[in-house]
Amino acid sequence: MDQQFAKDIVEGLSTAKKRLSSKYFYDAAGSKIFQEIMNMPEYYLTDSEFEILSLQGKQIIEAVQFKEPFNIIELGAGDGFKTFKLLEYLVHAKIDFHYVPIDISQGAMDSLLEKLHQKLPNLSIHPRVGDYFEILNTENINTDIPSLLLFLGSNIGNYGNLDAIGLLQHFGAGMKKNDKLLMGVDLMKNPRTIQYAYDDRHGITKRFNINLLLRINRELEGDFKVDDFDFYCHYNPITGEVRSYLISLRKQTVHLKKIGKSFNFDYNELIWTELSKKYALEEIENLAENSGFKVEKHFLDCKHHFTDTLLIK
Ligand code: AVJ
Repeated sequence: MDQQFAKDIVEGLSTAKKRLSSKYFYDAAGSKIFQEIMNMPEYYLTDSEFEILSLQGKQIIEAVQFKEPFNIIELGAGDGFKTFKLLEYLVHAKIDFHYVPIDISQGAMDSLLEKLHQKLPNLSIHPRVGDYFEILNTENINTDIPSLLLFLGSNIGNYGNLDAIGLLQHFGAGMKKNDKLLMGVDLMKNPRTIQYAYDDRHGITKRFNINLLLRINRELEGDFKVDDFDFYCHYNPITGEVRSYLISLRKQTVHLKKIGKSFNFDYNELIWTELSKKYALEEIENLAENSGFKVEKHFLDCKHHFTDTLLIK
């Protein structure tokens, strides 16, 4: 049993305001559902970032100003769909670099490697499977060539302000003086656009959340009855926060046999599952400054829905 998972789940279900961390969404089934989300027309984030990396790869690499060879280290590479266009540009331009994708999921890594091997056979790849937080710590970026870190997809949005600062400081600690960080961030925009991206009509995002209960059932021998839970999410255009919840549709008790604990749920009690924070450009600049970085340049898509922001130490 994954001790950290068990500990976090028990802790989250024991507090007055229950919560389960979205970082546990991504088991094999959850990663598949996330791919479905990325394919939904309502989930504009993927298309926006894809556009930026497809159309502005050259400008981004020019702004980075590295001497060759250099590394491109992707934190949480996933299936690498967005990054492909950037890699393709670099390979076709005959730029000398190594791609270091890091991801927690062996399955996602396998499909990424297969695709890259097929489509970009000349690409130099050094994959690492594991938690990027730890990998950055242990093997560091201990080469003497410069590194561009990629932290894409607006994963930063899952972190509250203090945690986001902590995460960026951690990245900074693993970076050499001239290394740079390209961070994908979803921007504030028409609130309806954001609401539709998370509260989708087909219930895919609901399945994504409910899957966490199924994961708990499987890994901790729980007896969550998934029909007794619904999904709710809400975008607050003042704070820029999408907050997602599971709602208990009955007063009920759930038992986790593997750890011998029961948890009571009230009628309509909420479990907070995810924060997806949307930023104003100015807030990104503040976040960077508070974490020991400076914004070098924002690269926006044509609709100004999303930015890939280049940060320097
Ligand atoms: C992968 C964390 C960026 O918050 O938009 C998608 C995950 N959650 N739909 C996000 C997610 C609901 C996603 N991130």
